[in-house]
Amino acid sequence: MEHFRPDVLISEEDINLRIDDLARAINTEFAGEEIVVICILKGAFMFCSDLIKKLELPVRLDFMQVSSYGEGTVSSGNVKLEMDVSENLKDQNILIVEDIVDTGLTINTLVEMLKVRNPKKIKLASLLFKPSRNKFPVNIDYLGFEIEDKFVIGYGLDYAGRYRELPYIGVLNAGN
Ligand code: PRP
Repeated sequence: MEHFRPDVLISEEDINLRIDDLARAINTEFAGEEIVVICILKGAFMFCSDLIKKLELPVRLDFMQVSSYGEGTVSSGNVKLEMDVSENLKDQNILIVEDIVDTGLTINTLVEMLKVRNPKKIKLASLLFKPSRNKFPVNIDYLGFEIEDKFVIGYGLDYAGRYRELPYIGVLNAGN
């Protein structure tokens, strides 16, 4: 099996420093309140895990899984709900945690799915955003990094199910 060595795009240290900033802003916005953090599986698991360790708020953690990419590198255009939250979201402060916003289709679909449950507030944290690929309007309240249109892997993000375990964001170079 081919297993390429990725080049580092965003180092572990830079990710950690940026998460410090995001956590500080979230702690300020929600000071004195409880939040329900919804980790969007699978890609956001590592970012979410590191982010919530730095929150100084009462947190309830939940998970949703949607998929649109399957094993390929191009979105199919259909977002399928694979797993729903188990918490009651009515009147709750929701923080959606995503690894990446690309076209914006997934997050738009997710927000629509969550709005009908009548939460108090819905906010979005995403580690990465590719502005050049964006098609659906999206407001990222807590953004880690804007990146160019490269296929990124690591720190939760996969290529055909692999490379999620890398502690940094990398790019695949077929020559390596
Ligand atoms: C990725 C990523 C986002 C979505 C972003 O999920 O985690 O949810 O794609 O793309 P979009 O903005 O174009 O909709 P993916 O479907 O690859 O599932 P995974 O997180 O389980 O790898």
